[in-house]
Amino acid sequence: MKPIISPSLLSANFGNLTDDLNMINRSEADWLHIDIMDGVFVPNISFGFPVLKHVARLTKKPLDVHLMIVQPEKFIPEVKALGTHIMNVHYEACPHLHRVVQQIREAGMQPAVTINPATPVAMLKDIIKDIYMVLLMSVNPGFGGQKFIEHTLEKVAETRELIERTGSKALIEVDGGVNLTTGAQLVAAGADALVAGNAVFGSPNPEETIRALKQL
Ligand code: DX5
Ligand code: ZN
Repeated sequence: MKPIISPSLLSANFGNLTDDLNMINRSEADWLHIDIMDGVFVPNISFGFPVLKHVARLTKKPLDVHLMIVQPEKFIPEVKALGTHIMNVHYEACPHLHRVVQQIREAGMQPAVTINPATPVAMLKDIIKDIYMVLLMSVNPGFGGQKFIEHTLEKVAETRELIERTGSKALIEVDGGVNLTTGAQLVAAGADALVAGNAVFGSPNPEETIRALKQL
């Protein structure tokens, strides 16, 4: 099965977002990945709802929203108001993860749980059957354009095993340093969805790069 491709808006040209969003609309991308950072959970700040309101209006792709913030549950209504399909929250940011997952579902979105590179896959055992997707970070979150952490390949295989063992239907998405080479390795290891920022927007032909990622 072809991988789901979710280009990351973080690497787009914010001086001319309309052009980049039109390119994504024309492309074979399945989702649009949106990185929200708060300067607390991660050492960077990206963009907030006043900007995203316009992004949501201009895109035709379902939104795959990745919250790198503390207390993400505070913003469930705002995320929902964008028309979000998938709301990703970090395991490390949610002491009451089960409750947050239920709240996301009750709000009418698909809940996804993200884990950082140093968080073991085993921590997902008691939530895996309740979620739509696992998002494995293959870089430490906060910045685009970082180098892929190879150990993620083992984590993809471990997550696949956990999903099969528990009868969960969760998808596996990977985020950080994904390009045509690491993307191929991830798909072979069992990833369903790939986020790509720099590989797409730093490419001389982003639309063609999305098509190539889709063929992996
Ligand atoms: C990193 C973000 C990623 C980032 C990926 O904190 O979560 O979504 O945009 O960018 P690349 O693909 O350039 O590593
Ligand atoms: Zn992300």
